[in-house]
Amino acid sequence: MITQTWYIPPDSILHRYRGRAANIYLLVDRGRQMTQMIDCGMPSDVPGLISCLKKLPELTAVYCTHFHIDHIAGWRGLGMAYPRCPILFHQTAGPVLSGETRVPPSSIRDIRTVLIPCMRESGYVPSFSDLLRSGFYGTPFRKGFPVRNVQFFKTGDAVPSGFVCLHTPGHTPDSASFYHESARILICGDVLLSFDGRIIPNTYTVDSLAHRHTLCHIEQLGPDVLICPGHGVPGKWNG
Ligand SMILES: [Fe+2]
Repeated sequence: MITQTWYIPPDSILHRYRGRAANIYLLVDRGRQMTQMIDCGMPSDVPGLISCLKKLPELTAVYCTHFHIDHIAGWRGLGMAYPRCPILFHQTAGPVLSGETRVPPSSIRDIRTVLIPCMRESGYVPSFSDLLRSGFYGTPFRKGFPVRNVQFFKTGDAVPSGFVCLHTPGHTPDSASFYHESARILICGDVLLSFDGRIIPNTYTVDSLAHRHTLCHIEQLGPDVLICPGHGVPGKWNG
């Protein structure tokens, strides 16, 4: 369900849809009468998402912050409901989408310090049905991704409407964030997380040096930027 909404001048609205495991952001461009989605949750999010989308302008694209199950697995149902809608990833996601490389397994430390606290915060425990319906895409247990309607964006592209894509690797190699400079909004996937209303860096990384560079980059955007994370409540990050 939609839990928060921001007006973005001149004519857009950003909704935070609280998915079962992760946030899904819905960007409504009222001028062009279209809705763009950032991340698409788990399969069990899809019925609720579809009924929400029925009240909004046409869904024209789904932009993914990174190739992890809780951000992409809703596509199996959503892609069937919206057969003309593309799903887009940062170009660095190419090798995991083609099956050339696999999503690396989470370490025990990542499970203990990030995944379990995230599940506690959201109240979501992965169900067998969700895992099965997800096809295990975006996990270490499945290679590749169905290529139909898959497209790519690159760093600096003006996507979604009014935002610009930043490459923000570290949590995963393909992690991307979307920045709206005048509205001071950053949709950052799992680069930063929100726990108990506090925005903090994610310690679950596959490349800690890249992650540190990413955090420096985000810090330079300024403390007034509203961080819209993949998990938890949006807020400001004090660096
Ligand atoms: Fe993630």
